[in-house]
Amino acid sequence: MTELTVRRDVPAPRPRVDLSTRLAGRTFPNPVFTASGCAAAGQELDQFFDITELGGVVTKSIMLAPRSGRATPRMAETPSGMLNSIGLQGPGIDAFLDKDLAWLADRGARAVVSIAGGSVEDYTQLAQRLRGAPGLAMLEVNISCPNVEDRGQVFACDPRAASEVVSAVRKTMTPDIPVFAKLSPDVTDITAIARACVDAGADGLSVINTLLGMAIDTDTMRPVLAGVTGGLSGPAIRPVAVRCVWQVHQALPDVPILGMGGIRTGRDALEFVLAGASAVSVGTTVFGDPMAPVRVLAELAQALADRGFERFSDAVGLAHRPPEAALPEGPDPVGDPA
Ligand SMILES: Cc1cc2nc3c(=O)[nH]c(=O)nc-3n(C[C@H](O)[C@H](O)[C@H](O)COP(=O)(O)O)c2cc1C
Repeated sequence: MTELTVRRDVPAPRPRVDLSTRLAGRTFPNPVFTASGCAAAGQELDQFFDITELGGVVTKSIMLAPRSGRATPRMAETPSGMLNSIGLQGPGIDAFLDKDLAWLADRGARAVVSIAGGSVEDYTQLAQRLRGAPGLAMLEVNISCPNVEDRGQVFACDPRAASEVVSAVRKTMTPDIPVFAKLSPDVTDITAIARACVDAGADGLSVINTLLGMAIDTDTMRPVLAGVTGGLSGPAIRPVAVRCVWQVHQALPDVPILGMGGIRTGRDALEFVLAGASAVSVGTTVFGDPMAPVRVLAELAQALADRGFERFSDAVGLAHRPPEAALPEGPDPVGDPA
């Protein structure tokens, strides 16, 4: 672990808004989570703020075996975003259970464990290993991985493959643990994949993973990333992410969504909530501002209070009301002084 200046800031008191949120039968104290791959398993962030303040900590996708990830360079800055081709670097499920998940459980954090594999069997084995694991609050199935049994076709881009993975994981994991499938925006119709995942047993959907992108260095006249392509994240993708959350919520209004993509402020988070997200993940922003998740939480609470909301849940999907519909008692769309 790198040396960090310990700065356990006390978050500002939050206004009196009931921030609790229900995700597939499980209640979380608030709707702000980390994003997979952007906060490891929470240890580093916990040096900046108390990670139990967050709704949940989403861990870096874990695979069965340890992996060293892709060759460097594997990060590139882009306008309002970044490209990464880290690959799924990680210690493998055994070390993850012994060290990372054990630490999160000990710490009292709500751990959302992200799993990734190259075959349905990989995902099934990961779910088996995680059954009954202390500290596990939810499972996020990262299906943006190449299927080794289908010429490297990404699971998340094929409704049948996505559904096979989700069905296997749902059957293997105990019913008390919500299983969320994480969708890729790199598809023509995200609602078709969303529906396939839900029909296969997903209790909720994480929307969205990174967009496939690339950058070319005009001096070397070669791709910037050693892996050539990478995942685009950060504010640049926010409108795409909000559109995906909107479409998925419209198609499947009863399915909880963990929304993400370029969230930097509480107002950004509110945009996702109004589009239909019952919780949000804060990802890339954390690299420049490790306090971002708790700051976003405080700002979101303030933004809700400014608009007259007493409960976070009343704001979920509110942008879908018809233009002529009156707002429910309380919320005031012009009440935000910021
Ligand atoms: C460096 C990096 C690593 C990531 N690793 C993972 C991962 O292991 N699993 C996963 O499902 N998503 C991963 N993501 C995607 C994020 O969880 C998130 O879906 C995406 O970056 C959009 O959110 P953001 O713009 O707030 O970062 C990663 C993103 C970044 C930037």
